[in-house]
Amino acid sequence: MIGNDIKYAAELLLAGEVVAIPTETVYGLAADACNTTAVAQIFAIKNRPAYNPLIVHVPSVHEIMPLVQNLPEAAALLLERFSPGPLTVLLPRNSKIPDIVTAGLPNVAVRIPNHPVALSLLRTAGIPLAAPSANPFGYISPTAAHHVEHMLGDKIKYILDGGRCAAGIESTIIGFPDGVPTMYREGALARSAIEQVIGPVVAHNAARPQAPGMLARHYQPHTPVWLTARPSEVIASLTGKSVGLITYNSYSTLLEKTRQILLCTESNFSEAAHNLYAAMHQM
Ligand code: TXA
Ligand code: MG
Repeated sequence: MIGNDIKYAAELLLAGEVVAIPTETVYGLAADACNTTAVAQIFAIKNRPAYNPLIVHVPSVHEIMPLVQNLPEAAALLLERFSPGPLTVLLPRNSKIPDIVTAGLPNVAVRIPNHPVALSLLRTAGIPLAAPSANPFGYISPTAAHHVEHMLGDKIKYILDGGRCAAGIESTIIGFPDGVPTMYREGALARSAIEQVIGPVVAHNAARPQAPGMLARHYQPHTPVWLTARPSEVIASLTGKSVGLITYNSYSTLLEKTRQILLCTESNFSEAAHNLYAAMHQM
């Protein structure tokens, strides 16, 4: 069921249920981060492998402190500048966070979402919420309540509607292995903005074991997708198939307009990001 009842969503979460929630990046599939049984349900509903850890959501920096051993200086600076916002930081966890949330890793991923409904829910429930994106494992993230309904509606009791996600892509994940600011996932917060606050951020080495989520196949729709600078060649190779085109900011002459979705009207990466997953869902 889709609805707007924050109090009801909080009651469900406190009772150990899983609830889909809006954030400014993508919708999350939330449960009480300190309730092992509740968190296990997230993995079951998403069909997510246990080696892939979850992000813990809290309403302010104040609520991060009980979950971690310390807050590195660079993390504190970033949180002060960009929270609430599409930033996730990896911090040394303490024993309050169960193993299932971090997949046994020494760090916990935390973020303060910049969405009034998410923040109000976090304050009403008064517990940290573990929440991956609310899609089946490997599939496209949802950026509207009806995307969640379509993918997982039969598996969850409640989808808290917060409208369309403003950012439309996931949060940027920064970790600090050996004190070195490191990019674990590019996302809605630009690397350049982060570097203005803490200086150079190194690229994450995919061979490191701390990043189990960086799989070769990810965000994968069921419909075949080509990423191409030569759409005419791809379309010519697909005779007899039903084909649509997602373009950046102008219609192509290759297909009728009703088979095309523009990501933005002028030239604006934020607008394109806002529309990207929605366009893929629509296709
Ligand atoms: O924007 C977002 O971050 C959304 C919203 C709902 O907050 N959440 C999200 O969660 O994208 P998810 O689970 O779809 O992606 C989280 C990524 C995964 O690739 C996971 O492996 C990584 O974060 N991650 C989580 N905890 C980690 C940890 N302790 N160490 C390393 N990577 C971690
Ligand atoms: Mg995801």
